[in-house]
Amino acid sequence: MPSLIYHGHSNFELLGGDARLLIDPFFTGNPKADVAADQLGPVNLVLLTHGHGDHLGDGVAIARRHGATVVAPYELAMFCQTKGCTVHAMHIGGAWTSAAGRIKMVVALHGGGVDGDTTGQHTTFPCGYVVTLDGKSIYHTGDTALTQDMQLLRDRVDVMLLPIGDNYTMGIEDAARAVEFVRPGVAIPMHYNTFELINADPQAFARRVGALSKVVILEPGARYEV
Ligand code: NI
Ligand code: MN
Repeated sequence: MPSLIYHGHSNFELLGGDARLLIDPFFTGNPKADVAADQLGPVNLVLLTHGHGDHLGDGVAIARRHGATVVAPYELAMFCQTKGCTVHAMHIGGAWTSAAGRIKMVVALHGGGVDGDTTGQHTTFPCGYVVTLDGKSIYHTGDTALTQDMQLLRDRVDVMLLPIGDNYTMGIEDAARAVEFVRPGVAIPMHYNTFELINADPQAFARRVGALSKVVILEPGARYEV
């Protein structure tokens, strides 16, 4: 049975079998992070939804330290390669069966700039991921607006990780509609209360979702068995 650990903001660790995957490993500078980047155990894959600093985070340093492979949209993967990482480039709509589980890259509607890319040549499309581990599907939406594309995943997701903080992404109202689109078994809110501009009440989100799906609110450091 896979499990996930929340490290605050949009930073999740997924564990299944011998595999340990990180998604959007923002530790340094993340006021909600429960551990430091150098306190993590061995990591196989580092998945990046996009290149903004609060998602790219410590990804390059962690991948280099553990010899982990960075999975990212092609242009962002090439950026990480220039920083000395082993990379696996993908793009929207494609799936890859890695040794650590099946990874599908899906649509997210957001900005594509890459922090630290002074050339501008690594600007890309941001993405979300559907990771299938031990037969369970975990959908990390990345930073995104509510999109109709989410409906393509209806009834195909066990756990949905989605932003509720508004301003840069969906707020509570649209996030609840996203849950209505996807109908996951469990919805876990993310990307809120990290900075004042994205303060949001996860209980208000849970009330809005109501009986559509089970909402699980994780404190940083909490582990959830999928
Ligand atoms: Ni972003
Ligand atoms: Mn963000």
